[in-house]
Amino acid sequence: MDKIAIIIVLLLAAFGHCGLIVWAYNSINATGLRRTTIKRIEKGILLIGLLLPTCAFVLELQYREAGSAISFESLQFVNKIYLVILSLFAIVAAPFWIDSRPVFSQSRDRSEQVVSHLWKPKVQGEFFRGRKFSIMGRLPLNEIGWMEVNQKKLLVDNLPQPLRGLTIAHISDVHLTGQMEPFFYRQAFDWLQRVKPDLIVLSGDIVDYDRCVADIKIIFDGLQAPLGQYFVLGNHDRRLRDPLKVSDRLIDMGWHDAGKDHASFLHQGLNVRVVGNELPWFRRVLPDAHAVESFGWTLGIAHSPDQFAWGVSIGCGLLLCGHTHGGQIRLPGIGPIVAPSWHGTRYASGVFERNGTIMHVSRGMSGIHPYRWGCPPEVSILQLADRAG
Ligand SMILES: [Fe+2]
Repeated sequence: MDKIAIIIVLLLAAFGHCGLIVWAYNSINATGLRRTTIKRIEKGILLIGLLLPTCAFVLELQYREAGSAISFESLQFVNKIYLVILSLFAIVAAPFWIDSRPVFSQSRDRSEQVVSHLWKPKVQGEFFRGRKFSIMGRLPLNEIGWMEVNQKKLLVDNLPQPLRGLTIAHISDVHLTGQMEPFFYRQAFDWLQRVKPDLIVLSGDIVDYDRCVADIKIIFDGLQAPLGQYFVLGNHDRRLRDPLKVSDRLIDMGWHDAGKDHASFLHQGLNVRVVGNELPWFRRVLPDAHAVESFGWTLGIAHSPDQFAWGVSIGCGLLLCGHTHGGQIRLPGIGPIVAPSWHGTRYASGVFERNGTIMHVSRGMSGIHPYRWGCPPEVSILQLADRAG
């Protein structure tokens, strides 16, 4: 009995320990702190995560009598407290963690995947240019060179008649790092252009390095839609010496910077407002809840899905986000473990609904981390439909 009890306590404590580390990692990466500060805190979290169980183990070894049976009662007092705290955390956190699994968190009744093509490179590694991706990209099952192009029908409450059937191309987390061949992006954008969406939205993390700003012209060339192209910046764009260079390039190519200024378009007599939100990284324009009331419908663009509550509060019919990359690695039957959000992996990717606001979180096209598993890059065409009709 003692043995079973200690095994249960140790398993619970291990789950609680890992849960605390992941929670701390996710939360620190959800903040608007500078990257260097986040990296320092990440190292601290990792160090504490390694040191605490090591110290507990060493303490136990030091005072344990040779040959004595292991039981919970025989543990050192401080270790008992440590294990109880971790176990309690595991018990309290488990329901929240289970509830954040994709099968429970996504609003599956609000979307239908109508088309989905998964493109895999003919030769593994054909799209990689940089050294890091060339090496890592050849690892078995690594999906960083894959691309899923899909069309999803979104069922929206009280969708005004003129917007029924409207198609929006959603692109996110392009991450121009110089590690991928431009053709990797171009073939997905060519597919988008062939489908002819009514408007195009890019939800941040466009360029990672100053030297890659010039690639915008090559990669986004010709990407246009009749009702316009709109974008916001993401946390990675803030790493540039001058993030506004990204904005200027896209504006020169006819895009609208929704992070700088709210936009609107008229569609079949309906005035639609496009509102950007770059919190917590940029505060170029603060979303004004009152200003949107005079519009027939509101489309929100935020880099982080943590802005879902904001989208709901201003009555967005649809909010488009990225940032979480689907978690990068999704374990079969479990889903993602890590995502840079205050909500952990709850909004890692997919379609979510709250109080009439639909949020679509894209897995994004690329990233700086050279591994994806169960989580291929994605570009989407979202077709709006009225839920009742
Ligand atoms: Fe990103």
